[in-house]
Amino acid sequence: MVQSDTQRRSLHGQWSSRLTFILALSGSAVGLGNIWKFPYIAGVNGGGAFVLVYLVCVFVIGLPIMMSEILIGRRGRRNPIDTMRLLGEEEGGTKRWRVVGFLGVIASFLILSYYSVVAGWAVAYIFEGASGIFVDTDAVGVGEIFEELTGSWVTSGLWHTLFMVMTVFVVARGVKQGLERAVRILMPALIGLLLLLLGYSMIEGNFAEGVAFMFAPKFDELTSEGVLAALGHAFFTLSIGMGAVMAYGAYLPEETSIVATSFAVICIDTSIAILAGLVIFPIVFAYGLDPAEGPGLIFHSLPIAFGQLPGGTVIATVFFLLLTFAAWTSGIALMESPVAWLMESRGMGRPITAILIGTIIWAMGFLSILSFSALADFEFGWGTFFDNLDFLTSNIMLPLGGFAIAIFAGWIMCANSTSDELSMGVGRRYGMWRWFTRFVAPVAVMLVFLNAIGVI
Ligand code: PHE
Repeated sequence: MVQSDTQRRSLHGQWSSRLTFILALSGSAVGLGNIWKFPYIAGVNGGGAFVLVYLVCVFVIGLPIMMSEILIGRRGRRNPIDTMRLLGEEEGGTKRWRVVGFLGVIASFLILSYYSVVAGWAVAYIFEGASGIFVDTDAVGVGEIFEELTGSWVTSGLWHTLFMVMTVFVVARGVKQGLERAVRILMPALIGLLLLLLGYSMIEGNFAEGVAFMFAPKFDELTSEGVLAALGHAFFTLSIGMGAVMAYGAYLPEETSIVATSFAVICIDTSIAILAGLVIFPIVFAYGLDPAEGPGLIFHSLPIAFGQLPGGTVIATVFFLLLTFAAWTSGIALMESPVAWLMESRGMGRPITAILIGTIIWAMGFLSILSFSALADFEFGWGTFFDNLDFLTSNIMLPLGGFAIAIFAGWIMCANSTSDELSMGVGRRYGMWRWFTRFVAPVAVMLVFLNAIGVI
């Protein structure tokens, strides 16, 4: 029997309004992925053509999958594992779909373990910025500050610990209470500050070269690995393919439009990434830095600008504060699905569950920390331990998770259920969503994979 969602309620309450949901979802989407990761992987993969493929992936694959995830979450009203099991049974007659939820929960653990390390650097930079250390420091000096931080596992371990404590704190109190208030102020502030920095880049940076790097597509520089990275990053930046959006969708009131919300979130997320690139690359070119240098890119480039700007000490402090908040709201989203799952399946309390899961992730984080110090030369697979973790989750686990979600929403769920959730009836817009979810998104993901492993 196909149950309608009106019969099911979330065990954790609901978002208080549509705006809150948009903010919470964009709080989860906007994070280190936009400001730290997007510029650095765009740099590593040669810029323009990569950015174009990324944008196509976001709108063609990301949008229908995000809608699918929200609708599955709202219909199941449980944590991702139980939602997939429940709906799998209702719609497809098998409990096996819970594997998709399970893989998502594992991805949450893995991602947060290294995410928190980078977020820890952002926290550290609030204090570096406030100390005035960047004032008139040249590119070499700025580089040394970063190496000093990441080269010491004790120092970066402490910042990582602080970030995990902050995240556990909010998740333990319940996402809604902690999160709703925070995102309302932080998201607009972040955009405001990025616009200010954009002004600096336009005047002081090499803006023309930065724009050309980001938007002039040089297809000969795009490798199949670059295409896979663009696809993986589309999933990562939208927080899809791992159940995080499903977990948030479970708290979504029935009358909220999934279509409008997804579209808004995707536009916010994409604008912030592009804005971050437009701030960072002009600075990179003006100071002769290497756009392909890797994970340290923003920590090597932005502080130079802060050091030159009047009031730069304050701007640096506020910027890293906002980056920390952006990372924080994403870290919270990463923890929510494992926590909701343990609470619902074991009947454990929220605080204790959050502490337990937080401790495991915290311990795992040290492997990533050591990738920048003691284990920096220990490379295998795609690079250091940190690189491998990132590759495995973003480029493999999330696209596969997204693929399964699209198949489930497009082929397994009956059209009545999905059109009901999307409140679209059977009109043309619904037809488009269904077509993208059944054919375009899964086929595109498969093509990119086959291309990356050299089959085509
Ligand atoms: N989307 C977040 C970012 O771009 C990362 C994230 C991934 C958060 C998956 C939650 C789930 O920083």
